[in-house]
Amino acid sequence: MRMGFREHIQTEKLPQHVAIIMDGNGRWAKQKGRLRTFGHKVGVKAVRETVEGAAEIGLKVLTLYAFSTENWNRPKLEINTLMNLLVETIHQETPRLINNGIQLRAMGDLSQLPKNCQIQLQNSIDQTADQTGMILNLALSYSARWEILRAVKELANQVRVGLLNPDDINEAVFSKHLCTAEFPDPELLIRTSGEQRISNYLLWQIAYSELYFTSCLWPDFTREHLFEALVAYQQRERRFGKISEQVAPL
Ligand code: FPP
Repeated sequence: MRMGFREHIQTEKLPQHVAIIMDGNGRWAKQKGRLRTFGHKVGVKAVRETVEGAAEIGLKVLTLYAFSTENWNRPKLEINTLMNLLVETIHQETPRLINNGIQLRAMGDLSQLPKNCQIQLQNSIDQTADQTGMILNLALSYSARWEILRAVKELANQVRVGLLNPDDINEAVFSKHLCTAEFPDPELLIRTSGEQRISNYLLWQIAYSELYFTSCLWPDFTREHLFEALVAYQQRERRFGKISEQVAPL
């Protein structure tokens, strides 16, 4: 494995919020002649690596796409395995999260999750609520269109009852109705497995995010891969619609 990206990271230029689409568990398992669910199990190891690497380097928020609205269409056995893994992992990892100062959050249509999953999740969220280090935000039963429609409905209701004037709806107001209301938009979005698409993830929030695609399959992802992505991010020039001379120091 290539090593040494960490020393090339400029800590004063770190993104605050990194979002990841963890993809390729199924293909990784298939390559090894194993069941897809084995890929998810090994994927948990990559989650642990990434979360600890992100906290160690000093990210403020890490948002992981753990289960999409569309994932409910997978075979029932795979859904059950993923839900059980989630419950087990969250249960087992909570003490490590606390040791690392990490606060757990979840976003998505959580009412769709099995009851035991909802209970474990809330339990761990409560147990880590006082931590002041990184926020680990799990997207579960999440899709960006679901999130945007939810925001639209909330705003429409506020208008209906006379609490909000439609003319006052702007980007800041809208953002406050998204699941990520408290967080800055992710400056960097990483997707593993070589697929180059967004798959209904954080559509509003990634308007200006740098996109980083790696062919690494999720179970093989380590903190070094994360550091490599951070180095690549820092080599890019973020212009937000301006020209180079306006944003780069001469
Ligand atoms: C994508 O691979 C991965 C998922 C749908 C689930 C990710 C979940 C985990 C890594 C385990 C539990 C997570 C946490 C946060 C504890 P894929 O199945 O789409 O792979 P493929 O594209 O090769 O089929």
